[in-house]
Amino acid sequence: MSIAEKFAAMEYGPAPEDAKEALTWLDRHSRRFGHFINGAWREPFAREYVDTTDPSTGERLASVAQGSSADIDAAVQAARAAFPKWQSITPHARARYMYALARQVQKHSRRLAVLETMDNGKPIRESRDIDIPLVARHFYYHAGWAQLLPQEFPDYTACGVVGQIIPWNFPLLMLAWKIAPALATGNAVVLKPAEFTPLTALAFAEICQEVGLPAGVVNIVTGDGSTGEALVKHPDVDKIAFTGSTEVGRAIRSATAQSHIRLSLELGGKSPFIVFEDADLDSAVEGLVDGIWLNQGQVCCAGSRLLMQESIAEPLIAKIRERMITLRVGPPLDKGIDIGAIVAPVQLERIQRLVNQGVAEGATCWQPQTEMPSRGLYFPPTLLSNVHPSSMVAQQEIFGPVLAAMTFRTPSEAVELANNTAYGLAACVWSESINIALHVSAQIKAGVVWVNCTNLFDASCGFGGYRESGYGREGGREGLLEYLEPAWFKSAPSLPAAKPSPGENADSDRQTANPAPVSAEIDRTVKLYIGGKQARPDSGYSMEVRGRNGQILGEVPLGNRKDIRNTVEAAHKAAGWAKTTAHNRAQILYYMAENLSQRRDEVAHRLSAAVGEAQASAEVNSGIERIFSYAAWADKFDGAVHNPPFRNIAIAMNEPIGAVGIICPHEVPLLGFLSLVLPVVDAGNTVVAVPSETYPLITGDLYQLFDTSDLPGGVVNIVTGYSSQLLKVLAEHDDVDAIWCFTDQTSAFAAKSFSTGNLKQVFTNEGRAIDWFDVKQGEGRWFLQHATQVKNIWVPYGE
Ligand code: NAI
Repeated sequence: MSIAEKFAAMEYGPAPEDAKEALTWLDRHSRRFGHFINGAWREPFAREYVDTTDPSTGERLASVAQGSSADIDAAVQAARAAFPKWQSITPHARARYMYALARQVQKHSRRLAVLETMDNGKPIRESRDIDIPLVARHFYYHAGWAQLLPQEFPDYTACGVVGQIIPWNFPLLMLAWKIAPALATGNAVVLKPAEFTPLTALAFAEICQEVGLPAGVVNIVTGDGSTGEALVKHPDVDKIAFTGSTEVGRAIRSATAQSHIRLSLELGGKSPFIVFEDADLDSAVEGLVDGIWLNQGQVCCAGSRLLMQESIAEPLIAKIRERMITLRVGPPLDKGIDIGAIVAPVQLERIQRLVNQGVAEGATCWQPQTEMPSRGLYFPPTLLSNVHPSSMVAQQEIFGPVLAAMTFRTPSEAVELANNTAYGLAACVWSESINIALHVSAQIKAGVVWVNCTNLFDASCGFGGYRESGYGREGGREGLLEYLEPAWFKSAPSLPAAKPSPGENADSDRQTANPAPVSAEIDRTVKLYIGGKQARPDSGYSMEVRGRNGQILGEVPLGNRKDIRNTVEAAHKAAGWAKTTAHNRAQILYYMAENLSQRRDEVAHRLSAAVGEAQASAEVNSGIERIFSYAAWADKFDGAVHNPPFRNIAIAMNEPIGAVGIICPHEVPLLGFLSLVLPVVDAGNTVVAVPSETYPLITGDLYQLFDTSDLPGGVVNIVTGYSSQLLKVLAEHDDVDAIWCFTDQTSAFAAKSFSTGNLKQVFTNEGRAIDWFDVKQGEGRWFLQHATQVKNIWVPYGE
């Protein structure tokens, strides 16, 4: 072709990246890798190896060990042995190691990028310009936290040995997101990379050796799901951090429910990409290219659901098609390629199957006549239009280069459609109107919202989901808390087991064999408190409440499933509470303190029959202080504005979780209730609370307090009864967004087990005793953090 012809055609020539260094590295390891345990390479116990291949060619790259439970055990033991020393070296020493890791990643950046592209199939442009620079940034950022830890988190300590399981879509980046915060906070790690993409994790293991990281602090065990399962089930792991499919996330949740293992889950998504009629459509189309065609759409936060305002749907679709025609699909090591290979045959089949299903359900499928490579695993960029919002392709994560397009008319319809999903990971909002963009962003239930931008990430900005997209954050200050625990909590003693509740229908249990004399002085009956009103229980049964000496103090209703349903409904109706100003919430709490103060003596007097005079009086006094504390916190527990290294600000907002079910401690009826319910209400959530089973009569005093303090009806609802029975109903209820359970260990485990199906957030005392009178244990940020979830809204600025 002559130069003139080339100029006229303006076609790309091949621009392959040189793979020599990466291949030399593989050869140096004889293309065979054992596990990295205790600072050294180890043969797997079972001597079993599997191949990892290049999806763009099908060629074998290397064999890696298939980890067994014996391998996992060796790695956990190595981590356990390394943990005390790693935790106790100076913060500066830890920071230096982490800084060295960051530097070493940078020094090997090109080799790592090439390896990533060969093992995963993603375009070299992405691994070189996005993945690896973000990996280095993550280690630099967390080297800083290692240095600052004692000043910034003085009362916290590391979890211990952390098991980490990562997926194949961003192999080294997900490793960095997991390992950097874990090491910075003093934990030791066993990480299992995904079976399709183990190579960069193994290259990272070598980097750990190069910087002289103490043996056992980082262990890498390769293998498939069964290896991951062995890690999750290992009895000596303190925390599991997982990124991957919602299905496996749920299995891990179930496997760890009957244990004290802490869990953070970063799961799937079906993120909306919303384009309003006043958006800059050309920019939106470029955003969409990053949103759904980055990494072949194998991105958990991919903007896979395009929601277009009806008036611009046609021109936008035309522009998208025009742009799709220019996308180049091909060998990922070619620097001019936009869309590389799909990671594995099973994924390719899945994408094709889901697209076929979408078409069968009525969607129109459009693909450009792109030249496709003759070998390797490729799928063309795909646009599905006329998609019904409830259809499978609008609801299920396809995890491929497939965009499902729908229309809306008004901003409120856009919000409704955007939230019409079980997921809640990310969203994009395109509009030139700052009002519309921020108004809509605030209403979307997702952990990250990008305004007029897409798929931006930074170590300083937390990332993570709402609802079935998981919980916990990676990055930012909130990401560190996933690897830290209050120091006092770790060594708190266990509470004795609560006495078992009778079966739900065992009426005979409700009768007392030897009725004790009724106290002449106090004979009270309280009701349930639902939607700001006193309500009789559905069952028509009551439960006797006895004092310290066995005397009957009164009766409370025996709440059941139906009562819980009614209270959850009332809690949802009161969701407007989240929109009240923090100042307003503080005022209501101050008023509450004033009212409790005025009734101090009578409340203490009644309570004393159950807990004795000294405790009763202390509970009321501390209760008034606690209300004051949370009134103070209401307008002070606010978010942050991050300055990531782009022309953006990321506004980190502490948002309420929704309707929270709370099982209150038995032993401290008033102060325990206030200590749990107030932070939740303070943060804008609504509550269904089950009060102390020891003295549920406190409900009467509490609803008088709420009624006289202008607390809107439905913000706090109270159901008395057997807490273990009510816990099950609350935990299983799909409209309860989080469960707090602060009784014994059995209940803590039950709270986790019963809520596995809907993956709700669970916060418990793990059956440990909390000194509610100690402000260090009983109030403050630890509770407020669990009552909120951080949403990061990214907003570009400047020219
Ligand atoms: P996956 O969830 O099965 O795998 C993720 C990781 O979990 C891998 O390291 C795997 O070995 C491990 N694992 C699998 N079963 C396990 C178990 N029972 N216990 C412990 N660890 C286990 O994801 P997979 O099969 O690779 O992809 C399937 C679908 O999941 C994709 O099509 C996509 O929809 C979704 N996915 C979502 C990701 C995200 O970041 N949200 C990442 C990867 C996949």
